[in-house]
Amino acid sequence: MSHHYLRFNDVHYRYPNGFEALGGVSLCITHGEKVALVGANGAGKSTLLLHTNGLLMPSSGEVVVGGITLTRKTVNLVRQSVGLVFQDPDNQLFMPTVEEDVAFGPSNMGLTAGEIESRVVEALEAVGALGLRKQSPYHLSGGQKKSVSIATVLSMGPSILVLDEPTANLDPRARRQTIELLGRFSHTMLVATHDMELVWELCPRTLAMQGGRIVADGTTRSVFNDTELLEACGLERPCRMEQPGQRSCRSSGR
Ligand SMILES: Nc1ncnc2c1ncn2[C@@H]1O[C@H](COP(=O)(O)OP(=O)(O)OP(=O)(O)O)[C@@H](O)[C@H]1O
Ligand SMILES: [Mg+2]
Repeated sequence: MSHHYLRFNDVHYRYPNGFEALGGVSLCITHGEKVALVGANGAGKSTLLLHTNGLLMPSSGEVVVGGITLTRKTVNLVRQSVGLVFQDPDNQLFMPTVEEDVAFGPSNMGLTAGEIESRVVEALEAVGALGLRKQSPYHLSGGQKKSVSIATVLSMGPSILVLDEPTANLDPRARRQTIELLGRFSHTMLVATHDMELVWELCPRTLAMQGGRIVADGTTRSVFNDTELLEACGLERPCRMEQPGQRSCRSSGR
């Protein structure tokens, strides 16, 4: 497919305990866009992301990826287009070695051994982790685990990358490296994050969520300039937006 997009049409989702975590989400992300998904804890960001590749299915409404409506029948096809990177790498890495983890997805796609090997090398090179290929994922640092998690998804050749809190729990250097890594990708990207500097640097467009709904969808600058919205969503403007020397980054009072 040359033209990829991700669309949600009035998606509702109720967890088995009856709680409605998505209350009618509609959005469309088109080819090559990098979009941030922001909102307070519990707003529904992770729940929304889990719908992008069918880990959760809507209670009502539909998710469409590159013209294919997500159903139990199409889920495996959609997962080749949409690569989801979880917040916690320990949920993504489960094989004895890094290279086996990165090979896992391609192995399930019916590729030859040679094709699998070249995908492993390419994905690990893309995240600067080829030197870790023989190591156990359990013995890596948090930043290394994050890079390898991204590689496990890249090796599937997705056109849309969906990342949940890619910089959470990283030290400043690993965080910076991750932001720079993501900036080098040309994939269509949807990134849920509380890291407002990442949003500012990486994503020209921002979606804000509150109570299971999208309450704003616009340029990142326009969202960050809407102090009422930031306040309502419990967000703060990144320091980088301020003039040099202005240290206050609070959303209120400006
Ligand atoms: N398995 C579950 N069963 C019932 N309710 C759930 C479940 N998982 C999440 N929720 C609820 O759904 C709502 C949205 O949760 P979600 O994890 O999507 O929020 P989030 O925006 O990703 O938050 P955070 O910023 O803390 O990661 C919350 O109220 C949460 O308590
Ligand atoms: Mg979350």
